[in-house]
Order: sequence, then structure tokens, then C-alpha cells
Amino acid sequence: MRKFMKLTTSTLATLAITGSMAVAEDVEVLHWWTSGGEAAALNVLKQDLESQGIGWQDMPVAGGGGDAAMTVLRARVTAGNAPTAVQMLGFDILDWADEGALANLNDVAAAEGWDAVVPDALQAFSKVDGQWVAAPVNVHSTNWVWANKAVLEVNGIAVPTTWEEFEVAVNTLAAAGLTPIAHGGQAWQDATIFDAVVMSTGGPDFYKAAFIDLDPEALGSDTMKQAFDRMSFIRANVDDNFSGRDWNLATSMVINGEAGFQMMGDWAKGEFLNAGKVPGEDFLCFRFPGTQDQVTFNADQFAMFSQGDTVSDEQAALATAILSPSFQSAFNVVKGSVPARTDVSDEAFDACGKQGIADLAAASASGNLYGSMAHGHASNASVKNAIYDVVTAHFNGEYDSETATSELVDAVSIAQ
Ligand code: GAL
Repeated sequence: MRKFMKLTTSTLATLAITGSMAVAEDVEVLHWWTSGGEAAALNVLKQDLESQGIGWQDMPVAGGGGDAAMTVLRARVTAGNAPTAVQMLGFDILDWADEGALANLNDVAAAEGWDAVVPDALQAFSKVDGQWVAAPVNVHSTNWVWANKAVLEVNGIAVPTTWEEFEVAVNTLAAAGLTPIAHGGQAWQDATIFDAVVMSTGGPDFYKAAFIDLDPEALGSDTMKQAFDRMSFIRANVDDNFSGRDWNLATSMVINGEAGFQMMGDWAKGEFLNAGKVPGEDFLCFRFPGTQDQVTFNADQFAMFSQGDTVSDEQAALATAILSPSFQSAFNVVKGSVPARTDVSDEAFDACGKQGIADLAAASASGNLYGSMAHGHASNASVKNAIYDVVTAHFNGEYDSETATSELVDAVSIAQ
């Protein structure tokens, strides 16, 4: 008697987890680029590969910042069925490399000369013990503010350059009956704002001491308490429906003129562009007040999971495509990020992109380039998640600033 497999919801979920529908010679790519702007950028990569005759097996896992994607990845690897290629950030790459899960990309890197063109700050997350384990796609940074230009003009607001000016601007918008700050209450979004607030409040040495060196004195300092107080000000100026909102919906509030500002990484620009908006005309991009000279970066990379002794032809083709100068320009123009190679012209980039490229080079040269805590470039996932928990509990009113400061010290200490 023939047996038919009944495709129940749970079977489909299992198939999604095990990936057993994947076609062997395709590349199966696990990623979290599901918003309109992100999907438009991903298409640039898909089309590049398809033009080389390589099929694309899409494995999207929605959820900005990639936490949900990383959970699915762990399940897939545990089930013995890792995807071919995975979007990954910072310390997650290093952790998977330590587990011996990632393919060695040295042959591709040598053939394509990656060593000479990928900046050291990125190589620190792409190479482990001299071995290339990931192909960097871009460099994003978190200390940006996105503003609706008309909303600012109508309310007589100039681009704020200090925290104090920012407070005045926010209060002006509130008095006009607008939502001053568009925000989505998800832990990674709260943390993204915290990156910039801590950098602005304490400066780069403080940011490094707190998030990279995990110095308990910095974590428990009055400066940190002040940063939490500033988070409270921000919390008081988001709308009532912010809880759980996806980041791109918050961007839409700025696009539509419901809100004045969004503090978000430059993937937000992809949403403005996808909505047909023009920087300098419809929207403004500027560094979070008080962080004009600093860049808190995160770089998306694709790590290839070992499928045998050597990297497969498809994985090599994907890695080669990602680092090609023409792709780096075409993709990052759409995504809102800047190239991961130092030798790509800024010609095709809009004003925000040109500023992003210039800021990155300047911050790198002056020692003001730091990994983003919120996006896994300052510490490993367990420390990052410990910081998330405290920041979010404070943002939601569970802790006052003083309690949050001491909880931060404890949480980071336990997580290490
Ligand atoms: C970041 C990632 C970006 C963007 C963002 C929101 O972690 O680096 O490329 O996708 O999440 O999803």
C-alpha cells in the first residue's frame, strides 16, 4: 500500500528547519533581509548568481538584527543540515568558526586579492587564525538619525548637532502634536539606539571601556546612568503603539510624516529609497548628535558552511560575486550600507552613501571606528543578549536608571 505524506503545518515547519526541499546544486542562503529595501538589495545578489547559472534557494527568517535567523541556523546545524551560505554578523562568525563549522575561503580570497582591499576592522571578523571564513558584503553603522525633511522645516527645526539641541527638537515636535521619534519596541532596536546614546553620552573611550572591554567601572558609572536617563527621554517621546513594531514600519512613519526622527542603522535608507524618496529632498540623514566623528559599525558577511573538505563551486562563486567591486557598488547603493572594500568608487552613491563612505574612512583613520554592541561587533552573543535584556527592561519601565546601571554590571559579569 502506498503511503502519502500528509503536509501538515508541522511537516512544513520541519521541512523549513531541515531544508530538505533544497536542490543540491543550488546555493541555499539563510538571511534576514525581508523588508522592502532589504529584499531589493538581496535581489541584486540573486540576479548576479542567476546570471552565472547558479540557482538560489531562499531561506529568509524575518526579524531585524538576525536573532531569529541565528536560532533557525542553530536548529539546522543541530539537525545535520546546514544551509550553504548564511548571513552573519561579527562575533557569531568567530563563534561558528571556533566550532569548525565554516568552510575555508582562502583559495577564493587569494585569487581575488581580498587581503589588500578589505579593511582590518572587517578582517578581524572574516578571518580566524589566518583563514578566511566569511565574505564581507558591506559596512553598516548604527549611529544615524533619519528625519523627514518637510516635518523639520515646517516646525523650524535645524539638524541637531548636540544632545541638548536634539532634546529641543524633540520637544518642539511633541508640542506640535507629532510623534517625535519613530521606534519599534524590540530588544535589538532598543539596543541600536543605546549604541548611539552611550557613544554620545560618554564618548569613544567610554564606549570602548563599556561595550568592548566590558569594564565594570564604566558599566556601573554615573555616565552610564546618564545614558539610561537619555533612553528614558527617548522612551517618553515614542508613540503608544511602539511595542513589537518592526523597524521598517517605524521608518514608514518618518517617510509618511507621522514622525520626525528615527534612530536606526543605515539599512533604514533602503526603505526610503524603496519608497522613491530622495536624500536631501525628502529625508535627511545625519549622525546621532554628539557622535559626528565616530562610527559604530556592523558588517554583514556570508559564511559558507562546510559541505565537505573543500568549498563547493557554488560557494566559491557566491563568495567571488560578493566581493566583486561592481557588486559591492550595485548592492550597497540599494542597501544603504557602504562597500566592504576600500577601493570602490563612491560615484554611484547618493549623498548619505557618500557621507557614509567618507565617515568610515575618517573614523578608521582617526581611531574612532568601533564595533556595534547592538549588532554583535563588540562582544559575543551571550554578553550582547545580557545587555539587551537590561536595556529593554529599562526602556519598558521595569528598572529606573540607577537600577539598570547596577543590573548591567551584574548581567555582563554573569554572561562572560
Ligand atoms: C542588521 C543587518 C542589516 C539589516 C538590519 C535590519 O543586523 O546588519 O543588514 O538587515 O539588521 O534587519
